Amino acid sequence: MATELTVIVPTLNERDNVSLVVEKLHQVLAGIQWEVIFVDDDSTDGTVEALKDLARSDPRVRFIHRIGRRGLSSACLEGMAASASPYLAVMDADLQHDETLLPRMLASLRADEADLVIGSRYIEGGGVGTWNKWRQRISAFAVSLGQFVLWAELTDPMSGFFMMRREVYDRTVRSMSGMGFKILLDMVSAAGDSLRIKELPFEFGTRQHGESKLDTLVVWEFLLLVIQKLVRDFIPARFIMFIIVGSLGAVIHLLVLAIGIKGWGASFLWAQAAAAAVAMVSNYFVNNLLTYRDLRLRGSRLVLGLIGFMVICSVGAVVNVDIATSAHARGLPWWLAGLIGAAIGAVWNFAVSSTLVWRRSRKSASG
Ligand code: GDD
Ligand code: MN
Repeated sequence: MATELTVIVPTLNERDNVSLVVEKLHQVLAGIQWEVIFVDDDSTDGTVEALKDLARSDPRVRFIHRIGRRGLSSACLEGMAASASPYLAVMDADLQHDETLLPRMLASLRADEADLVIGSRYIEGGGVGTWNKWRQRISAFAVSLGQFVLWAELTDPMSGFFMMRREVYDRTVRSMSGMGFKILLDMVSAAGDSLRIKELPFEFGTRQHGESKLDTLVVWEFLLLVIQKLVRDFIPARFIMFIIVGSLGAVIHLLVLAIGIKGWGASFLWAQAAAAAVAMVSNYFVNNLLTYRDLRLRGSRLVLGLIGFMVICSVGAVVNVDIATSAHARGLPWWLAGLIGAAIGAVWNFAVSSTLVWRRSRKSASG
């Protein structure tokens, strides 16, 4: 019989959890034609071996082993792309999501009460379990931000636990950013207000094995997704990141300049040159860490990339000064001429370094 429900489970270092997930799914989904697709981003703890063992003995278990790619959202989308089922669910691997909700989610979709059913921690009957104050505050803040971006009345737009008709996926996948970990937020905002959404309460469980991967980098990614949704996908998110990083670089530049002149009594020329070099190097590493997180350079390519980046930015600086000077000579006020030069320099730096330094190479799978 054809599979009716695919449960997509993203994994990153969840070796001790995956077999427990499968066991629980067997318990709650008895009588349903289901399958699970684990999508693993090349875990280093042996998760893939555990998945292979499971898949060999259990026909309901499939998995995708992704190499050279990262990200909770894109992993889930890839799992969906590999499924033909009419109903798709997403659930974490760490047993923090209450799997007993799955049959009720499915019943609700079958009864045509909704297109999307979300497990919510923030409606009557739900809860965040054992989180500390700090994590609770971050989560509450993220929820309000998410609600603001969506203009939809979801109590838990950050939930990573939901089930939907596959048409929802088919209709939204091409307009989703796929970045970061907020797949639900991304999908609901891509769907516009055409979705019938239902929320079911659940209590967020406690992780038994492994650890959370949602670190501060993920918070940064989330802010970017929000900015991107706000500018309605008009400006590429990467460019926004690049500009934010560049602005931090300007602050670093001024700091080094001040220290050089006031602290060490260096000449302006030397202090300015040192400041520019420090700002370029720090921009390079921050961009490598954040802006181009998915194409991150390592090892010898990290060094070559740095050289390339510095050459590109030096050319950008020459172009910047050249354009600003001639704009100023044509009578534009100094601040406008300066701004135009800086803007053109930034676009240059972004465009050229995106194509030459952090390019998608054929060999990136090994990196
Ligand atoms: N393939 C893949 N790639 N899986 C990932 C990645 C990744 O880059 N990062 C995390 N995962 C997997 C984890 O292995 C786990 O199964 C699941 O995604 C959630 O990751 P956790 O690290 O356990 O996240 P959390 O518990 O802090 O956050 C959960 O709750 C949030 C609500 O505050 C997630 O469900 C979030 O989506 C949710 O927003
Ligand atoms: Mn978790």
